[in-house]
Amino acid sequence: MTDSQNALEFLYDPLRYEQGAPVGELTALRTQAAVIWVDEHVLPQWPGGKGFWLVLRHAECMQVLKNARVFSSQLGATQLRDPATPEDLAYVQQMMLNMDPPEHTRLRRLLINAFNSKAITQLEQQIALHARHIVDRVTGDASEGECDFVKDIAADMPLLCLADIFGLPQQDRYLMYDWANRVIGYQDPEYSVSSAFDSQAGSAIAREALKLRPQPDSNGRMPDPRTRGGMEDLYRYAHLLAQEKRRKPGEDVVSTLLAQVDDVDGKVTLEEFENMFWLFAVAGNETLRNGIPGGMIALLEHPAAWQALQADPALMPGAVEEMLRWWTPVMNFRRTATRDTELAGASIKAGDKVVVSFMSANYDEQVFPRPDDFDIRRDPNPHLSFGYGPHFCLGAQLAVAQMRAIFLELTRRFASIEVIAPPRYLRSNFQRGVKSLPIRWRLKGC
Ligand code: HEM
Repeated sequence: MTDSQNALEFLYDPLRYEQGAPVGELTALRTQAAVIWVDEHVLPQWPGGKGFWLVLRHAECMQVLKNARVFSSQLGATQLRDPATPEDLAYVQQMMLNMDPPEHTRLRRLLINAFNSKAITQLEQQIALHARHIVDRVTGDASEGECDFVKDIAADMPLLCLADIFGLPQQDRYLMYDWANRVIGYQDPEYSVSSAFDSQAGSAIAREALKLRPQPDSNGRMPDPRTRGGMEDLYRYAHLLAQEKRRKPGEDVVSTLLAQVDDVDGKVTLEEFENMFWLFAVAGNETLRNGIPGGMIALLEHPAAWQALQADPALMPGAVEEMLRWWTPVMNFRRTATRDTELAGASIKAGDKVVVSFMSANYDEQVFPRPDDFDIRRDPNPHLSFGYGPHFCLGAQLAVAQMRAIFLELTRRFASIEVIAPPRYLRSNFQRGVKSLPIRWRLKGC
């Protein structure tokens, strides 16, 4: 174990991220090399591993992400943390995120159609309404007040939109909150046992599914959420929802997709649907719960940008892109080399783990002049926050629409927002998570 490798532990030590993301440290590494080797030591909150190549520069990240034949999403799946057993690997490989062409292409094609459907157009029209209701709920009759931006403003937006997409009863949406917390917050004891859902208020499907909710062991630890046993309640819910939608199809994406379910002609199988439900409930949820507060932190630290957006809402689309770059809600994804190859001088062997750092790429000074500046007029802004290539985020447009809507509503309604206590960050080396952001707000005209 060399000193220089000990010095790299911060890259994967989940505890480090509670203090904030290591943007400056990544810059120091990136200026020295495009790709570096990182040993993975056993740490109190990390199981250790065989080590990985970390890709730090924008051009090389794109090179990896676009070449699925050499850099597989399937071989070792897409997380920095290795699946614990071959069975766990086989389980996550059932999700499109962790597939390579041609299986991946087939599922993605089916989903792209569903995302282009009337249901999504209707959803986009509703997003602004959701934003208005969220702010109404915070303000009530008051002209000024305090709240937790994460819990009271950011968290509900993706839940409301996902409930629209899936056509599931709105009162069940906090189940998705708990599921996403369990998966993304696995390393964080506060999130891994999340239980915000009120079963009394839920639908019959929710109550039925909840009977299978996994329980913590005697040490308070939940089963690994990247195993089937860690998410039995989600699978039960997806199954019952699919049955319901088959009986009574609606205009939603689930109904559209299920209309294509057919084990015989090889379209979407029920099992594939259940795994898609898992992926959407998690990928479309926590990402925004972290991305929206990340954008707010950017505005709090840059009051001139807040004022510019109040004066000219037409700046919002560019501002949202810059928020996504500056905060980078998903910090990295992993690939596995299918054969020996070379990347920026690094000799990568077949089977090696290759981790692309979106966060580092988004601050690459070769592509983003003065990358530390939060510049809402930055143009072009080819950030990699939604990935690149065949796995480019399916929900990117939906995510952007939600962020625009909520920040348009906030800048339209509030004269000022100020922070009243430091944010608390998630213990995760995967998502740049914000657990709380206490603010004081004041309405315009008061
Ligand atoms: C700010 C919010 C979001 C961020 C930062 C984000 C980020 C990402 C990234 C980086 C990937 C690429 C993974 C890879 O290359 O292996 C991805 C894929 C994906 N995202 Fe998102 N995402 C967001 C919101 C959403 C939403 C709202 C949805 C759906 C409702 C969604 C659904 C998906 C799906 C299904 C994939 C897998 C695509 C595939 O494998 O082809 N995401 N996302």
